[in-house]
Amino acid sequence: MNPRTAILHGGPDRDPFTGASSIPVYQASTYHQDDPQRIGKYEYARGGNPTRDALEQTIAALEGGAQGLAFASGMAATCSVLLLLQPGDHVVVSHDIYGGTYRALTTLFRRWQLQVDFVDMTQPDKVRAVLRSTTRALFVETPANPLQQITDLRAMVAIAQERGLLAIIDNTFMSPYLQRPLALGFDVVIHSATKFLGGHSDLLAGLVVAREEGVGKRLRAIQNTFGAVLGPQDAWLTLRGIKTLAARMDAQQAAATAIAEWLQTVPPVRRVYFPGLPDHPGYALHHSQADGPGAVVSFELAEPVAARSLLKRVRLMLAAVSLGGVESILSYPATMSHAGMPREERHRRGITDGLVRLSVGLEAAEDLMADLQQGLKQEEG
Ligand SMILES: Cc1ncc(COP(=O)(O)O)c(C=O)c1O
Repeated sequence: MNPRTAILHGGPDRDPFTGASSIPVYQASTYHQDDPQRIGKYEYARGGNPTRDALEQTIAALEGGAQGLAFASGMAATCSVLLLLQPGDHVVVSHDIYGGTYRALTTLFRRWQLQVDFVDMTQPDKVRAVLRSTTRALFVETPANPLQQITDLRAMVAIAQERGLLAIIDNTFMSPYLQRPLALGFDVVIHSATKFLGGHSDLLAGLVVAREEGVGKRLRAIQNTFGAVLGPQDAWLTLRGIKTLAARMDAQQAAATAIAEWLQTVPPVRRVYFPGLPDHPGYALHHSQADGPGAVVSFELAEPVAARSLLKRVRLMLAAVSLGGVESILSYPATMSHAGMPREERHRRGITDGLVRLSVGLEAAEDLMADLQQGLKQEEG
């Protein structure tokens, strides 16, 4: 099925009991059992809920995996996946990983004795160089947040398969419409569905898909035990958001491409990071493993003060944390997405105080450019 069709019909596309066009919100915590010796499919809402099930089946179909799981947030999803590992295990993580994931690995999971190496995964040799006998997993994010470096997914799968490692990827920035890592051999895909999947900046959700049933079952047990499940209302909103994923992504990435090209010509902008620009160092690689550049453009202004005042001066855009909504969102990684990373570490990774990240929404590109222009111009004057 073409991904555009799969988005609408790949999972449950109507209520099996009534034929309703929308799976209802099953707002219930427990389920009556006709026979206490033969528990039915649903027993208690932490273990399963029909609205959540529909979402879990939908994301499994879109990513092409055996098992989908819905969590209360992207971080609940990430931490639940990390619980697949044991204390003492070693994991190799992309050095441009989302700040919240960095924080989880360097606080909670450090106390839990998980050994972590953050490496530049754009260079597979650097991954090989840190492998140990105790290495159990690779954790990848590409395009990386916020500098949009591209990691070679096939090279990561080759390393993982050679060494019997679990290959995990955070696919939030692409969504399954643009990038399907399980088809390339990844084992587990994570999404902050708060972003493009939900798409309307009105919910918090996390999704996970396991390629194989065995890993899926282990994750199901973690989900039920740890209990960070997604509620039925937010599962319904996420399902509703997913229905327009293709249409939104197409429009948003077309506008993002136009804005990225334009930003390259604007004097206070020192550098533009966007995998849709042919001079992006990962352009060819990205297009060999994804169907489009996405809708997030990062750019660096020479002066940190100019970056901060741009956020104060934009009128159409939200100046906020998050991305992937129908409205454009301008954010400042230094104090927002990467606030959890020590300043020195952040600078070492190129996330400077002049860096701004723009998630392009559904507004007309020309209006967004005018908004940026007025925000930058005032600073110049
Ligand atoms: C790439 C990425 N992964 C994970 C998360 C965490 O998701 P959530 O905010 O839904 O917990 C985010 C949130 O910004 C993100 O951008």
